[in-house]
Order: sequence, then structure tokens, then C-alpha cells
Amino acid sequence: PIKVLRTVDAVRKWRKPQVLDHRIVSLVPTMGALHEGHLSLIRAAARESHHVVVSIYVNPAQFGIKEDLASYPVTWDNDCKILAELDRELADDGGNLGRISAVFAPTTSEMYPSGFPGQEVDSKGSFVIMTPVSELLEGRTRPTFFRGVATVCMKLFNIVQPEKVYFGQKDVQQTVVIRNMVRDFMLPIDVVIGQTSREPDGLALSSRNVYLGERRRKVATVLSRALKAAEEQYLNGVFDRESILKAANSVVVNTLNEQLALVPEQRVKYEVDYISLADPSTMEEVVSEVNPAVGGILSGAVKMLSVESPQPGEDLGHSDGPPVRLIDNIVLKPS
Ligand code: PAJ
Repeated sequence: PIKVLRTVDAVRKWRKPQVLDHRIVSLVPTMGALHEGHLSLIRAAARESHHVVVSIYVNPAQFGIKEDLASYPVTWDNDCKILAELDRELADDGGNLGRISAVFAPTTSEMYPSGFPGQEVDSKGSFVIMTPVSELLEGRTRPTFFRGVATVCMKLFNIVQPEKVYFGQKDVQQTVVIRNMVRDFMLPIDVVIGQTSREPDGLALSSRNVYLGERRRKVATVLSRALKAAEEQYLNGVFDRESILKAANSVVVNTLNEQLALVPEQRVKYEVDYISLADPSTMEEVVSEVNPAVGGILSGAVKMLSVESPQPGEDLGHSDGPPVRLIDNIVLKPS
């Protein structure tokens, strides 16, 4: 069975003999509510390391005071079941070096010994801060988000001391933050990025998708479709920013018009937070043209707004709550 470790001490005790045995330990950090995106990272880790540690911890420092910390899905029993099943699958597949050895699921007092972490920009505490990348894109609407992510990952890396860590491409700006942190603080860790897992219709898997409900779920593909249309321009040899972003924008506008053509009680409303075309290593906006030797990152965030006139018996997800914010991105590969 997979060990469940709750304290820093327990991890250190487990980790020590692995060092002496020269076992490769990898870490897959998660906030639980596991889905195929998480599992694909664990599978990749198991191919390349003797011991996979999965952390499950909903980190308060990366939620703003007005964000969904209290309602973030916590599905511990199901997560354990999913991991046990995946571990059996890993055991049966001869191509793996290792298995899931442990789940690290600490409490907040264990992770933040000096107290509940501040969630505001000026709050006191010990934090890992990276500028300007933390202030761009996702950081504009969530000013303490990347500070929270970098801080908790620094803690997790120090606790588990993994040789390799696995992050998903889905959260592209997070991958840049983690890469920069590892480089800037000389952490002896390989950062491996796994590709984005998607639903058959293109929607990127996310723990927050369960909040959408049926009606918004259908329209939620607008973001991945917009990014794909923009990517198509690049693949056709169009490198100027304006033309690439225009392709994304027309998908957004067409989808809005489709919704407006419906009777009001069937409509889905959404707002685009941003659609960005950025440099892959800094996430700073491409000014006029993508350099095809460097490539770029097309990314975006869309807020699916509450359903205003729910129909009797309709599956609404959590649409009476705050909007569901979705993010996605596509890498424009250098050619
Ligand atoms: P969480 O959203 O649970 O995601 C955990 C990891 O799974 C992240 O590296 C994320 O990029 C990856 N992931 C999520 N959806 C994915 C998808 N559709 N395809 C591929 N990978 C996907 O990201 C976090 O948690 C937190 O910020 C964390 C790094 C754990 C720090 O608290």
C-alpha cells in the first residue's frame, strides 16, 4: 500500500535510506481532486524514478482572500482510491522504474509553522517572490498567487528533496516560475514538464471543471478553440502578433454571437480576462512579431459567468457561485 505521510519528520525518515541507496525520488505536487492530468504526470515520474511521492495539499497562500479556497474540491478518499489503482497499473507495466511510494498530505500548521500564511500582497511572513513573472498574466488578477505557489513548492522541495519534480504544461506560467526558482536558488532538481491532458472536445482538464455544470461546460471550449485558431496562423507562417491574436479573437466573437442568437434563458455568458502571446522563458508579451527561432506561448483566461435563468432540473454545477475561471495555453514551437 502507498504510505501516507503527514509530517515533515515522517518524510525525512522515509527519505533518508533512499539517499543512501541512491534511489531516484521524484515529486508530483498537487492540490488533490485528482484527474487524468495529474495521473499523466505521475506516470511520467514512475518511468524515470524509483520512488514517486505525490503531495496533496490545498495551499492557502496561493488563494486570494476573495478566491475559492473554502470551496476548492477536497476529495481525499477518492484521490486515495485513484492513486491505489494507478499504482497497480504502474506495477503491471514493466516499463516503469518505480511506483507511487508515498502520498505527502500535510496540515497547514505543519506547512506554515509560523502561522496561517498571509493572502494579501502586504501580509507578513516568509515568502519566495519572483518578479516580474509573478506580476504578469495570471498575476495581474491574482497578485499573491505565484508567491504562494513558489513558497509552497520551495517548502515541498526542501521536505521531500526530490531529484525530479513534475509539473503540467496546463499551468504554463507556473512552470516558468518553478524553473526560474530552481535556477535562481541553485536547487539540485530537474524540472520536467508534462503535456496538457484534454477532454475529447479540447477542454483542458482541471479540478475546477466540475463547477461548470452542463450548459457552461459546452461553451467552455471557446478558449481552447480560440488558442488553436491562433496557433494555426503561426503554423501557416504568420508571425505578427496582431494577425495571430486576431484569429483567436474572432473565435471569441463568433461564440459570443452564437450565444446572443439564443433566447436569453438558454444563454451562457463569459468574459475573456486575457489572450496573450508571450515569450516562452519570461512570459513577457511579444511586441510585434514572434521570432520563429524562439517560438512563443499563446495563453488565455476566460471567466464563465453564472447561469442567469436556470431551467428546472438543469445540472448547474456550482453556477450560483462566483464565475468559474478557466486557463489554457498552446506552445508555439520554435522552427
Ligand atoms: P493542481 O492544480 O492540483 O495541479 C497539480 C499539477 O497538475 C500541476 O503541475 C498542474 O500543472 C498539473 N495539471 C493540472 N491540470 C493538468 C492538465 N489538464 N494536464 C496536465 N497537467 C495538469 O498546480 C497546482 O495544483 C498547485 O499550484 C501546486 C503546484 C500543487 C502548488 O500548490
